[in-house]
Amino acid sequence: MTAPISERLEDVAQARESGRRKMDWAAQHMPICDSLREEFEADQPFEGERIGMAMHVEAKTAILAEILAAGGAEVAITGCNPLSTHDDVSAALDAVEGVTSYAERGVDDEAYYAAIEAVIGHEPTITVDDGMDLVAAIHEEYPELIDSIVGGAEETTTGVHRLRAMDEDGQLDYPVFAVNDTPMKRLFDNVHGTGESSLASIAMTTNLSWAGKTVVVAGYGHCGKGVAKKASGQNADVVVTEVEPRRALEAHMEGYDVLPMADAAKEGDVFITTTGNRDVIVEEHFEAMQDGVLLANAGHFDVEVDLDALSDLAVDRYEARDGVEAYEMADGRRLNVLAEGRLVNLATPIALGHPVEVMDQSFGVQAVCVREMVENGEAYGPGVHDVPDRLDKEVAEIKLEAEGVEFDALTETQAEYMDSWQHGT
Ligand code: NAI
Repeated sequence: MTAPISERLEDVAQARESGRRKMDWAAQHMPICDSLREEFEADQPFEGERIGMAMHVEAKTAILAEILAAGGAEVAITGCNPLSTHDDVSAALDAVEGVTSYAERGVDDEAYYAAIEAVIGHEPTITVDDGMDLVAAIHEEYPELIDSIVGGAEETTTGVHRLRAMDEDGQLDYPVFAVNDTPMKRLFDNVHGTGESSLASIAMTTNLSWAGKTVVVAGYGHCGKGVAKKASGQNADVVVTEVEPRRALEAHMEGYDVLPMADAAKEGDVFITTTGNRDVIVEEHFEAMQDGVLLANAGHFDVEVDLDALSDLAVDRYEARDGVEAYEMADGRRLNVLAEGRLVNLATPIALGHPVEVMDQSFGVQAVCVREMVENGEAYGPGVHDVPDRLDKEVAEIKLEAEGVEFDALTETQAEYMDSWQHGT
């Protein structure tokens, strides 16, 4: 049985102190979560609820867990990726009243899933996922818990895809909010968050410049748009690969080169996959690449770059730098893989994930979704649900107020005009 992180670390006191400092720094820049914390402390909306979470356990996520506990919940949390946990933060979180953290960095598959089971052992009444691992494990292994589950919330595109597939198969037996799809999450977190943090993580891990490089961005969805825009802003030449004609056209009209991967493979210096799909960069592409290229993935799972094929081609493999593994080909070319092909903005040794302000928005949405499930859960049947617009707007309004940004409101005449079909020319 997996024990909480505090029972597994050698110097727990020091880890807690370091993790707490990271959390305090994040909290200073999270006005939305701060405002919700005040509300939750006063109203105790989660009294009696047990919240199971599987997320990237670092400082911002820890603040989300903490404010849910402050609202009266018993929270049990683990990671949603074996390389994205910060052990010190996990330990600090485990010390928060009402929270148990099982997350630990670098665990193998068996320990990873054992920690998910440990969270499920708390018999959650609400689940908060990033990638759907909790929902999947509960449905597959512990269906007897479903009757007492009020609902869930899912953070990322891949998790929402999986949930919608499950829903279409008639297999999803409780309501889950698609947090990823709501504007306050997707238009900021996926675009700006992934763009900024992926580039920052790659630059810091390699100590290399973007200027003058050719950066191949696979997938021109929300994340890809952010990565392409920020790379272009750092003076890189951007090449986009796509499979969806309108997205390919958007990238073309934005001024990027659009190429099939087979051609892009010959040109790129850096490759960043953001598709949420598998086998995006495969053997034929490795064979065409130049010496010294960087291969990074920003999609949810480590299946976008075919590392098995790359291993088979390699005559040698070695650690080129912390977080960079060089695969040497028979002809001497070195292809450098970052973070074992896992989320590059979260899984390199120096990775910090998205900027704090961005996660304040995403987690603000998560927190109001959990509140909505507790208050109005019976209004939502089993299946995937859009985040109600009023909740998305509530989070935007808190943020605008915190930023000191004032904006206009519709006049009565304007509101009536916008709602009417009778006014023409
Ligand atoms: P999206 O659905 O908006 O975009 C994905 C794009 O990839 C689509 O335009 C699709 O046509 C394209 N695509 C699919 N297969 C392809 C292929 N073989 N070659 C080229 N393009 C292909 O999804 P979004 O929101 O951009 O998310 C992408 C991935 O990033 C997901 O796995 C999501 O969970 C993950 N994600 C990662 C974050 C991070 O922190 N690194 C943050 C948010 C999302």
